[in-house]
Amino acid sequence: MLKIKVLGSGAGGGFPQWNCNCDNCAGVRAGTVDARPRMQSSIAVSSNDVDWLLVNASPDIRQQILAVPLLQPARAKRDTGIRAVLLIDSQIDHTTGLLMLREHGQPLELYCSAMVYQDLTTGFPVLRMLEHYCGVNWHELPIDGSPFAIGGIDGLSFAALALSSKAPPYSPHREDPHPGDNIGLQVRDLHSGRSAFYAPGLARIESHLEPVMHAADLLLVDGTCWTDDEMERRGVGTRRSLAMGHLPQSGPGGMIEALGPFARQRKVLIHINNTNPILVEDSAERRQLGAAGIEVAHDGMELSV
Ligand code: MLT
Ligand code: MN
Ligand code: ZN
Repeated sequence: MLKIKVLGSGAGGGFPQWNCNCDNCAGVRAGTVDARPRMQSSIAVSSNDVDWLLVNASPDIRQQILAVPLLQPARAKRDTGIRAVLLIDSQIDHTTGLLMLREHGQPLELYCSAMVYQDLTTGFPVLRMLEHYCGVNWHELPIDGSPFAIGGIDGLSFAALALSSKAPPYSPHREDPHPGDNIGLQVRDLHSGRSAFYAPGLARIESHLEPVMHAADLLLVDGTCWTDDEMERRGVGTRRSLAMGHLPQSGPGGMIEALGPFARQRKVLIHINNTNPILVEDSAERRQLGAAGIEVAHDGMELSV
């Protein structure tokens, strides 16, 4: 059975964010709002509870591994349940954790696109740095949706779909988007044929995603912002959700509407920004999601597909 463990359900910065005093961050710190803290964006995937694929390596990885005992099976003096790491983009919140994995006894088995590899050897040369520690064994992801296997992860098949988005602010090709800067990931259980689609950065549901999403049993997709101007409304910045490659949930054309046709699928939002009102369990926005059959991921959530 395909099992997905949510290690971090927050967006970059986590919840509460270290320097933020928006209503949500101040409220969760003070215990005056009904909301759970969240670490930064990462999931782990397995079919046997023993061998895990880490999807995104967040800055909170150390705490995330501590929170999930299955990731530390303790079969030897030095051990890990993480067999490989797959990156869906080269954003800071998805890649900084690689530095925390430097004590690995062998090169890290790393799956990412050629564009992500380029960013991680230039603008943020973390893979070059790791050459002085454990090193990495890079596997280039096909980004045309063709299926691939991951060594050590038995019983699951994967496919990466290029998403229209942008490279991170630090990338040398920030203003020159390429296919493979961001991907959506399909994970399929070879035994049951059931599948999940994971895309924490989704600016819109592009037509090439539709067949994969309709075939999926679980959609684990972008829950960053409720409105496009949310940062501004909260008084914490001017960056717009769509400009950052994240489709807001509310309003015409928003994620709630876009997920409407996926009636059969379990729908869960992930990568929730700390400004988002859906973080508050008893908010009107959260109720609106519930009425649309959409759940909100939390750290430690376990999804069986
Ligand atoms: C994003 O997805 O846009 C990020 O959360 C940005 C970041 O990590 O700063
Ligand atoms: Mn992010
Ligand atoms: Zn905040």
